[in-house]
Amino acid sequence: MLKVAQKTLILLCAVSLSFLAQAQTIVTIPIETEQNALVLQTDKDNRLGITYFGKKLAKSSENALISKEYRLNDSNAGIYNSAYTPSGTWSLVEPALQITHADGNTSLELKYVSHETKRTDANVSQTNIVLKDPVYGVEVTLCYKVYAKENTIEQWTLIKHQEKKNILLQKYASANLYFMADNYYLRHYHGGWGREMKPEETLLTAGIKTLDSKLGTRANLFQPPTFMISFDRPATENEGNVMLGTLAWSGNFKIDFEMDLYHNLRVLAGINPHASEYSLAANQEFKTPSFIYTFSSHGKGEASRNMHDWAKKYRILDGEGSRLTLLNNWEATYFDFDETKLTGLFKDAKKLGVDMFLLDDGWFANKYPRNGDVAGLGDWQENRKKLPNGIGYLVKEATKAGVKFGIWVEPEMVNPKSELYEKHKDWVIREPERPEHYFRNQLPLDLSNPEVQDFVFGVLDNLFTKNPELAFIKWDCNAVTYNAHSAYLQKQGLPQTHLYVEYVQGLYKVLERIRAKYPKVPMMLCSGGGGRVDYEALKYFTEFWLSDNTDPLERIFIQWEYSYFYPAVAHCNHITDWSKVGLKFRTDVAMMGKMGYDIVVSNLTDKELLFSQQALENYKRINPTIWKGDLYRLQSPWEKPFASLLYSNKDKSHAVMFTYLTTNRFDIIYNPTPIKLNGLDPNKKYSVKEINLFPGTSSSLKTDLVYSGDYLMNVGINPELSGNRTSIVLELTELK
Ligand code: DGJ
Repeated sequence: MLKVAQKTLILLCAVSLSFLAQAQTIVTIPIETEQNALVLQTDKDNRLGITYFGKKLAKSSENALISKEYRLNDSNAGIYNSAYTPSGTWSLVEPALQITHADGNTSLELKYVSHETKRTDANVSQTNIVLKDPVYGVEVTLCYKVYAKENTIEQWTLIKHQEKKNILLQKYASANLYFMADNYYLRHYHGGWGREMKPEETLLTAGIKTLDSKLGTRANLFQPPTFMISFDRPATENEGNVMLGTLAWSGNFKIDFEMDLYHNLRVLAGINPHASEYSLAANQEFKTPSFIYTFSSHGKGEASRNMHDWAKKYRILDGEGSRLTLLNNWEATYFDFDETKLTGLFKDAKKLGVDMFLLDDGWFANKYPRNGDVAGLGDWQENRKKLPNGIGYLVKEATKAGVKFGIWVEPEMVNPKSELYEKHKDWVIREPERPEHYFRNQLPLDLSNPEVQDFVFGVLDNLFTKNPELAFIKWDCNAVTYNAHSAYLQKQGLPQTHLYVEYVQGLYKVLERIRAKYPKVPMMLCSGGGGRVDYEALKYFTEFWLSDNTDPLERIFIQWEYSYFYPAVAHCNHITDWSKVGLKFRTDVAMMGKMGYDIVVSNLTDKELLFSQQALENYKRINPTIWKGDLYRLQSPWEKPFASLLYSNKDKSHAVMFTYLTTNRFDIIYNPTPIKLNGLDPNKKYSVKEINLFPGTSSSLKTDLVYSGDYLMNVGINPELSGNRTSIVLELTELK
């Protein structure tokens, strides 16, 4: 927490010095959370650098001394630790900001001018630091929003100028950080459809390692803008210095990790400058997306709990609220349904015991009916053959059956075989003179165009206006952006290089409007699997779809990695027939988030139905702990052939432990040793009970187990995994 900013709610510290005076004065600016600090300091030339990142010093006044311990005197390539590296003057490393001035000059220098800290409340404060080019009228404001208790910093940059004509922004990072350690281990992710969040952990070496996306609309498909860096040595769940970072931007991103001459690490994160030169008018402000990061000196587990607490309290829509369980018809029917089939499914949803029925793709379009993924996208009128009485009738029937009703949309996209395409080719992102390329037979609409924004808003607005009881939206996005060309930008005389940026800004404008009018309706962010989640989009969405891959054995790994960055309350996990693994295993894995079903309920055996009904009852009881509590990862499936995770509520009076066998090989010895628990109170006594048992089976554990938290965390417990017990859920309740 910033000491200088403790007393009043508004302005606490404002330093404003002339350029001349600044050259003589060294200014130290600590950006402090409860546990950690990022320390910034000006040098003798009034350039702002980063002198420290890590555990907060006990005495804030000692922050001013740090820089003198480092002898980073080599000025061959400029200042490596710059808080925002300009390009074109004496700094020759990867820049944060690269511009061409109105007169064609490409040089930029940034000097410290002033800073101020405003406090929003006891926990949140924001420090803005103004930097200026002494020659050209370019001004940059570095903004650091500090969430003290959550040890999380949100950083973004404002860029403006007073030049006579537009300047060109060639690179405009959100954040430029600097780390000093012996070694840096980067954990980052790659994948594809059904294979999201595959981790790689690598020792960074000299040179630049880049994570980026150029995919446009579903930018995360092959690589998300999330990563962690362990300092000195690889951090474990409970030990080591580690930072987690993620860019809050639903479009192209670029994150560079550059090791400098001193073996220090420069990190630059922001919008991908690829094909995105931005022409900025005088006095117009360009706001970069936020880069969000947290640090822990106690391992990855604590760092992720920091981020979860921040996300639940400050970012995810209704992050501290509850969620609806549901039955989805995608894998149960695909495009093949009608009113009769659907009303039957409503009854199944009720019988199962979920809160809601979610109607997926295939309910719309008439001239080119949506009976497959080749036609109809864009024509958002109910298909008269399948749904002669419209959505209104379905909402009524669902209500009659005792469940809420939600619906799927993919409003940013169009199939060339659609009336929308026929009418509005100019709304489609396409190169007019080149052959079209499709991803899932479709193309994105041009959200840089305000008319298209109105259209997309209208898709949702019409649905809600006609059906005010609609309880849920699944917002899908299945295509990347090929042939990135906008007829609208061309007509306006604006550069095509604005398209990638203005598409995302247009999307946020639409979501802003939707939330202004419909602030509460839960919405799932989906992208043909998990190709899109980020913390800007999650301002508008209550949850997201991690992957179309719902095989629980795969999901253990996918959910494990997502769980570092996003809390369980936002994870949509559906039980499907994708895999042959038993229903209990599928259900247990889905419970570690927001549980849903995408199965044919009438195909369940009596025992399976009973099991599911009981599981949903259990879930009602334990979900407050999973959604609102803390996650402790006990055993990584990457290290042993089993995984174990525990969620405990904030006062540590209730916990749920999930353990899974992740192999079916004969040649293994099932966990011979106990698994040590975490996140309990050593002084509390807990009853331990196995739940989610399949009807007709019993637990091999004793039924009346009582242990102290101390025992459970130091000795542990053996859940007795075996070929017959591959998935075990234990509920721990404090005994008073
Ligand atoms: C992709 C999604 O991931 C699926 O769940 C489903 O909604 C389909 N799209 C529908 O086309």
